[in-house]
Amino acid sequence: MTILVTGAAGFIGSNFVLDWLGQSTEEVVSLDLLTYAGNLENLSSLNQNPHHHFVKGNIGDRDLVLTLLKKHDIRAVIHFAAESHVDRSIHGPGDFIETNIVGTYNVLESVRSYWNDLDEPSKKSFRFLHVSTDEVYGSLNDKASAFTENHPYEPNSPYSASKAASDHLVRAWFHTYGLPVLTTNCSNNYGPYHFPEKLIPLCILNALNDKPLPIYGDGKQIRDWLYVKDHCSAIREVLKQGHIGETYNVGGWNEKTNLEVVETLCAILDELKPKSDGKSYADQITFVKDRPGHDRRYAIDASKLERDLGWRPEETFETGLRKTVIWYLEHETWVNHVVSGEYQHWVEKQYS
Ligand code: NAD
Ligand code: TYD
Repeated sequence: MTILVTGAAGFIGSNFVLDWLGQSTEEVVSLDLLTYAGNLENLSSLNQNPHHHFVKGNIGDRDLVLTLLKKHDIRAVIHFAAESHVDRSIHGPGDFIETNIVGTYNVLESVRSYWNDLDEPSKKSFRFLHVSTDEVYGSLNDKASAFTENHPYEPNSPYSASKAASDHLVRAWFHTYGLPVLTTNCSNNYGPYHFPEKLIPLCILNALNDKPLPIYGDGKQIRDWLYVKDHCSAIREVLKQGHIGETYNVGGWNEKTNLEVVETLCAILDELKPKSDGKSYADQITFVKDRPGHDRRYAIDASKLERDLGWRPEETFETGLRKTVIWYLEHETWVNHVVSGEYQHWVEKQYS
């Protein structure tokens, strides 16, 4: 049997595929459109792996997706493909509606058509796992309890609204058509292969290049941080044991303000790669204009996943962040290739 992973050349998708093939010989078909965020270099270590097949294509191409499902006898789809950056969604929401909502609708329809024609045992064991975000729940004040799976949906950005819509479609395909779906809503991931438009990789690279470390507003916004490999293990667990139709929150139990995140990162860099002038990287921290509609706090209550499926993250924020910084220091070629691409234009638009 084989799994189909959409968005497999992106940050989390590529970590998931590498992780999967690191511990299984079950074949993986990776589908990715290779947008600005998709980087085939993330999967280059699998070039000679006979269990991995990469296909460049759009999740919205129903014929392509259906053909892949049939050709490879797919037993599960892990759906990561999306437009994922909040700031980009503010500058241009159209791609988010197209990919996250219409794209997910098209994938669901291809999957439904394939699933309908399976024999009964295959139909029963088939899974569609939809990867979503805690941002669909909206913003919390400092005293509120963390998001549980029952928290109302209150998305505030075009990105989170588009993900919320996709979650609703997935839910409806379960209730209406019986498609065996699972949904995970996770917090902010960080780790290897993270595109440097997001806070942590952006600040690592800016720090090393003697550039400002941009903190939006007062830097007191809170996120829960999840090391990407812990996210991968959670998805594997949900796929294996999750109850169909259910939602599982995935979090790292690591609430930090953005300022704390960047200060911790600077302290790790000060230790691992001290500046020649003896100063701290923290001196590069610069407060910049806030993001419009910036959500104040996200916090994930991941206790359902622990209670029902026995999953807990392995990394603390400090251990995960140290691994991440070391990865970036050791992967200069990957960094140079990413930085020399389209990303440059984005940086000009966002920070000029
Ligand atoms: P990413 O932007 O790094 O990767 C997305 C991938 O999807 C890219 O490789 C891109 O080329 C591909 N893609 C985009 N449109 C496509 C299309 N039409 N057809 C096929 N492929 C397409 O995103 P990520 O950070 O890896 O996030 C993966 C998933 O996890 C997303 O659904 C995102 O909403 C969710 N998520 C991410 C985070 C996070 O912290 N990164 C947190 C919660 C949830
Ligand atoms: P980001 O990595 O874009 O993830 P998300 O918006 O999905 O949570 O941002 C994480 C937090 O860091 C968020 O509160 C916005 C903030 N941020 C900055 O302060 N400066 C930056 O340059 C970026 C990209 C983000």
